[in-house]
Amino acid sequence: MKCVDDFRLRLGGKELVPIVIGGMGVDISTAELALEAARLGGVGHISDAMINTVTDRHFDTKFVKEKLKKYKFNVANSDKSVVQFNLGELAEATKLHVGRTMERKRGEGLILVNCMEKLTMNAPRETLRVRLEAALDAGIDGITLAAGLHLGSFALIENHPRFRDARLGIIVSSLRALQLFIKKSARTNRLPDYIVIEGPLAGGHLGFGADWAKYDLATIVAEIVQYLRAENLDIPLITAGGIFTGSDAVKFLENGASAVQVATRFTVTRECGLPAEVKQKYFQADEDGIEVNMVSPTGYPMRMLSNSPAIGAGTHPNCESYGYLLDASGSCSYIIAYNREVEAHPDAKRISVMSKTCLCTQMRNFDVWTCGHYAYRLKDTSRKLKDGAYQLLTAEHVFKDYQFSTDGKIALPE
Ligand SMILES: Cc1cc2nc3c(=O)[nH]c(=O)nc-3n(C[C@H](O)[C@H](O)[C@H](O)COP(=O)(O)O)c2cc1C
Repeated sequence: MKCVDDFRLRLGGKELVPIVIGGMGVDISTAELALEAARLGGVGHISDAMINTVTDRHFDTKFVKEKLKKYKFNVANSDKSVVQFNLGELAEATKLHVGRTMERKRGEGLILVNCMEKLTMNAPRETLRVRLEAALDAGIDGITLAAGLHLGSFALIENHPRFRDARLGIIVSSLRALQLFIKKSARTNRLPDYIVIEGPLAGGHLGFGADWAKYDLATIVAEIVQYLRAENLDIPLITAGGIFTGSDAVKFLENGASAVQVATRFTVTRECGLPAEVKQKYFQADEDGIEVNMVSPTGYPMRMLSNSPAIGAGTHPNCESYGYLLDASGSCSYIIAYNREVEAHPDAKRISVMSKTCLCTQMRNFDVWTCGHYAYRLKDTSRKLKDGAYQLLTAEHVFKDYQFSTDGKIALPE
């Protein structure tokens, strides 16, 4: 019976263990988690979502405080168009996070950065170019272009000296999205080095509409395999979303995938950035306590635990401090939802906003408990301790369980 270790991912001249730990913003897939994947010969992701905020937390910079100081005068104004990111600081923050991670890398694996393109940051093209170029400057092994895939991203960085040697990949959830990207990037004479195909059971934002449940990862993979064959394109495919055991992974590896991208099982590891008490919430999750909703201002459905504090929170918009979701005209659908509630309840001390959430504030505070569909099985991956809490796992334990397990088995920790 085969296991994941019988396969290898060939990428950029390397032969890797075909396990990719997916990017989890904001700093849920920490440098420590990504470094473990690389040390074990696989692929890890850090994320550049809310990079200034993350850098402040780790490196004692003051980017967020300074931004708020500069734009404090605008806090009560719902037009946020003046609230711009300083591009120099954005580059500095990215270089710090990426550079310091890469300095610590050991082993044969790769570290990539997940770049959520839907973070439009009140100047989509300019900020995206800075994020991508700064990550390349800081020595990242490669970039995975995620949520909200900007079809012109390759062209944005085509003059960067590392444009052809860094590994550049994309996340898609349909053949159509892939075809569009390839068509749009043809002018740069560069194809993606890998394609992550993310199905509807994944965590984070879903690349589908409200009808996500109609889709199935294996079917999308089969369509893309057929298309690439017909076009004579040899690009490694990495399948993602709901791959919970090594045996689930083997099924995809035997049917056209070169690797699998996994995330949910790593949310309960020591190296994961979620606070300890939140990891316990993930362990405790039941199937009916997980929902896909539309509270993200990005407009994409997002899967999360139904008891996430972010749902219904009536936070005052914090765009002067954060503002990562502001569109090109300085607007965010949360601001609109918030103002509507304030207007409807003029005398209320606290309001609740059900339709949208202030994703920046809530992700910053680890209050959006996003997870994959199978999060309710996490309790079966560990042991319950005497005090009723579940034992945290190590990233190495989970990685090796994916790598070597057979027969749908999940190894419990020592
Ligand atoms: C907590 C969490 C946060 C995530 N954040 C992101 C993100 O910021 N960007 C992204 O492209 N994918 C994100 N994802 C999706 C994962 O990278 C991955 O593709 C997917 O969850 C794999 O499915 P699985 O969780 O069932 O293993 C996130 C997933 C989880 C569980």
